[in-house]
Amino acid sequence: MNLVERIKAKAKSDIKRIVLPEGDEPRTVKAAEAIRAEGIAEPILLTPESIAADVPRLERYAAALYELRKAKGITEEAAAKLAADPMYYGMMMVKLGEADGLVSGAVHSTGDMLRPALQLIKTAPGMKLVSSSFLMECPNRDFGEGGLLVYADCVVNPCPNAEELGNIAVATAETARKLCGISEPRVAMLSFSTKGSANHALVDKVREATAIAKSLAPDTLIDGELQFDAALVPEVGALKAPGSPVAGRANVLVFPDLQAGNIGYKITQRLGGASCFAVLQGLAKPCNDLSRGCSVDDIVNTVAATAVQAQ
Ligand code: ACO
Repeated sequence: MNLVERIKAKAKSDIKRIVLPEGDEPRTVKAAEAIRAEGIAEPILLTPESIAADVPRLERYAAALYELRKAKGITEEAAAKLAADPMYYGMMMVKLGEADGLVSGAVHSTGDMLRPALQLIKTAPGMKLVSSSFLMECPNRDFGEGGLLVYADCVVNPCPNAEELGNIAVATAETARKLCGISEPRVAMLSFSTKGSANHALVDKVREATAIAKSLAPDTLIDGELQFDAALVPEVGALKAPGSPVAGRANVLVFPDLQAGNIGYKITQRLGGASCFAVLQGLAKPCNDLSRGCSVDDIVNTVAATAVQAQ
């Protein structure tokens, strides 16, 4: 079974309710039919009309949203208007436990999906920040975990500081374990330097992040700073970082910032022929973003991953 098949099988073992706020978007409608037919999850399609049809529920969500955001200056009128927006309404369903997770982004931009999730769902207890993992399945099975690599952060945090980067590394190792079934995540903290081959403030940040990640997760194999080839290619890893438990055999790659991470996953996808999809990590309840160019299958796969995160 490939990664997607494994995730779908797991989703089917414990059915979760997943909200699709873009419920009148054609790919989403088709995906919901497939999700129901395959028994992957219980999809809940939202539209402005379906929301308006249940006034007591809308009023309850508006009041709860106001309570959650009043300290940030929201008025009751503004909360009522936001609650009628399918994205915010869907987030409130998840927040209040009336759905188990949310998938959106076939129409909305990443920022428009992320902001309500960050404002309402918030981080899980013990998590400092929300970030993302890209699950990359490469045709060349010599790399990573039989071709499977987990990249972070390619979606959320534009300029993580050392502490944030260390937290991203630990959260990504956890996603590799829980969602991808990788029993031994080997985390490479990527840079343009390997073990002091270059000196720069940007490299110092990665070194500091490596130390923080190791202190947060002493039982996880984490090493840095490593260049991409030193992380993945055994001969280069042995030459540039001898004795490293990660170099040459990494299956989790942590990029130093969002520019590197976003460009890196797209190069792997387009030039390397990898299939991929992203999940958010660190949220108190699972909510995931789609690319606006997504296919029906992408939506089905992301719903399956969201359902597994909710289990
Ligand atoms: N983790 C947890 N909470 C966060 C995070 C985070 N990483 N970032 C922001 N927040 C919280 C803030 O604390 C704030 O909470 P509050 O309102 O309760 O105080 C709330 O989110 C909003 O924060 P802002 O800083 O006002 O929001 P901002 O306008 O900066 O938006 C966002 C945050 C959307 C994540 C922004 O950083 C962003 O746009 N990131 C890049 C998204 C993107 O375009 N990615 C690339 C494309 S995706 C792709 O290619 C697959």
